[in-house]
Amino acid sequence: MRIAIGNDHVGVDLKWHIVKYLEQQGHEVVNFGTDEPASNHYPIYAEKVAKAVLSGEYDKGILICGTGLGISIAANKVKGIRCAVCSEPVSAELSRQHNDANIIAMGARMIGPVMAEKIVDVFLNTDFLGGRHQIRVDMMTALENGESLS
Ligand code: RB5
Repeated sequence: MRIAIGNDHVGVDLKWHIVKYLEQQGHEVVNFGTDEPASNHYPIYAEKVAKAVLSGEYDKGILICGTGLGISIAANKVKGIRCAVCSEPVSAELSRQHNDANIIAMGARMIGPVMAEKIVDVFLNTDFLGGRHQIRVDMMTALENGESLS
C-alpha cells in the first residue's frame, strides 16, 4: 500500500517507529510530517495528509499528535476525509468496517509503539462492510455538503 503519514512535534518519534514498521512489511510510506522537536501546529500536517489521501495517490493516511484529537479534528475539516482517532485496535477495525475511515489518528502521549503497530495493522487490513453502513457514510457526506438530514 501507499501510505501518507504526518505528525506534529509531539509525534516525531512514534511517526518514525511506524514508518520503519510499515516499510518492513513492504508498504511505501511518504512522510508529510515534521521531523523537528520544536513546537509547531498540527493542522498543517493534517491538511497535507488529508489532501494527499484525497489526491488518490495514497491508499490511506496516518496522523499523529499528542492525543490524536487535534490532528483528527483538523483532518475532518477537509471535505472527503473520515479520520478516526484510535487508542486500541477494536476501534480501528470498526472505523474501517462501519465508517470507511480513510485516515487514522493516534496520540503519541496516549499509547505506546506496540499498541500503535497493532492499530495500524488492523486499520490497513480491514475492509469497509458497505450495506447499511454505506447509507450512513453517504449521510455524513450530505452533511459535509451542507444538506439537512431531516
Ligand atoms: C501539542 O502540545 C498538542 O496540543 C498536540 O500534539 C495535540 O495533542 C493536540 O490535540
